[in-house]
Amino acid sequence: MNLTPEQQALLDGAKGPAMAKVVKTLVMYGECFGATRMVPVTSRNGHIVTSFGLSMLGPVYDLMDELIEQGALSGQAFSADPRPLDPAVPANPLQRLVFKVMYSKQDDYEAQLRKMGLLRSDSFTCTCYQPEVGNRPALGDVLSWAESSAVVFANSVLGARCNRNSGIIELFGSIAGFVPEFGLLTDEGRQATRVIEVSCERKPEAQVLGSAIGMKVMEDVPYIRGLDHWLGHELTAEVEDYLKDMGAASASNGAVGLYHVEGLTPEAREKGRDLIAPDAQVYRIDDAELERVRASYPVMWKKPDARPKLAFIGCPHLSATQLERWAGDICEGLAAAGHRRVQVPTVLTAAPAVAEAFRKTDAYARLATTGAVVSSICPLMYTNNPLCGGMPIVTNSNKLRTYSTARYCTDREVLECVTTGALAWKGGDR
Ligand code: F3S
Repeated sequence: MNLTPEQQALLDGAKGPAMAKVVKTLVMYGECFGATRMVPVTSRNGHIVTSFGLSMLGPVYDLMDELIEQGALSGQAFSADPRPLDPAVPANPLQRLVFKVMYSKQDDYEAQLRKMGLLRSDSFTCTCYQPEVGNRPALGDVLSWAESSAVVFANSVLGARCNRNSGIIELFGSIAGFVPEFGLLTDEGRQATRVIEVSCERKPEAQVLGSAIGMKVMEDVPYIRGLDHWLGHELTAEVEDYLKDMGAASASNGAVGLYHVEGLTPEAREKGRDLIAPDAQVYRIDDAELERVRASYPVMWKKPDARPKLAFIGCPHLSATQLERWAGDICEGLAAAGHRRVQVPTVLTAAPAVAEAFRKTDAYARLATTGAVVSSICPLMYTNNPLCGGMPIVTNSNKLRTYSTARYCTDREVLECVTTGALAWKGGDR
């Protein structure tokens, strides 16, 4: 690793032993991936994935104390992933007790995050790039992030540059102000090594398309053709929402950190098929392939025909446009079914700033009468304990399906479930 004199001085302890360890860690991390130099983090803000005060993460809290005491603070304000707790989300007394024990360090950890440089006391969301949140990187910005759904969105839709870092490493990049240059930070690493040919007769469900791509290409960079037929050539709010959900599924069902959509995403618009590496393999996706992929999802419920006890909508967090659309659809669906209240406890999740703005709207006033809850919780953090993990939960999130026992449903199926109480498992789903 070739360090500048300033970087070398930090490594030699010019700003104390904690900063020296931070830089040493980044150097070792970069060397593992063949990096030969560090490049400055240029985004205005950072983002960290470790947002939860799990009682068992003692070493993390000790590390944070050491960094804070020695003044090795983040050089950029940062947002953080969603909080793991929200009393508004339905839970029984035993589950609430489990949450209390599991996340007993939450308040202490949030105090550490504020000292370290948290953007605002409510900056807890995985969609920090939503306009209301105030952490949206610019084209070409170099980032030090780790949240997989945010990294793939920033790389692909915003044209920023970020590797799929781990938790803590991303914080170290924000503290040092530089990161090792390799992978998705380089032009070479951003070349497409796979071509995806989408030839569906219906607009593909974003979460299933992303899942199919992720499972096939894993960490490769896909160049997606044929999707502009459904999405057009402009990054409108609706198109960004689609790409957000597709990307999150590709990043969790596989390990995609960057995709290009022909005629739509910034680098594909600029460079076109020059982005495709000469030996890129082609994967064709049609309606039958999407059905095959969906049918491959295992059913993890103890009783496959159980009545759902909870529906989570929004993982990654919903945008303002999505919240408003879901609120309208739920109210209309209930009216059509002759119900006033949701038939399955329903939680819609969005960033605190997005949810706060939505709570001032008529759409929210109508939604609130149905019993549906708007929260900024991370559904995965809710489910990752034995009590909640055993619950029959439905979700429109392929990420949540992957990391929990929740059952994936399309948007239309989730809507039908929460408005009528009926489960309409279609296609190959079992
Ligand atoms: Fe976001 Fe948590 Fe889902 S971080 S993408 S809501 S698992």
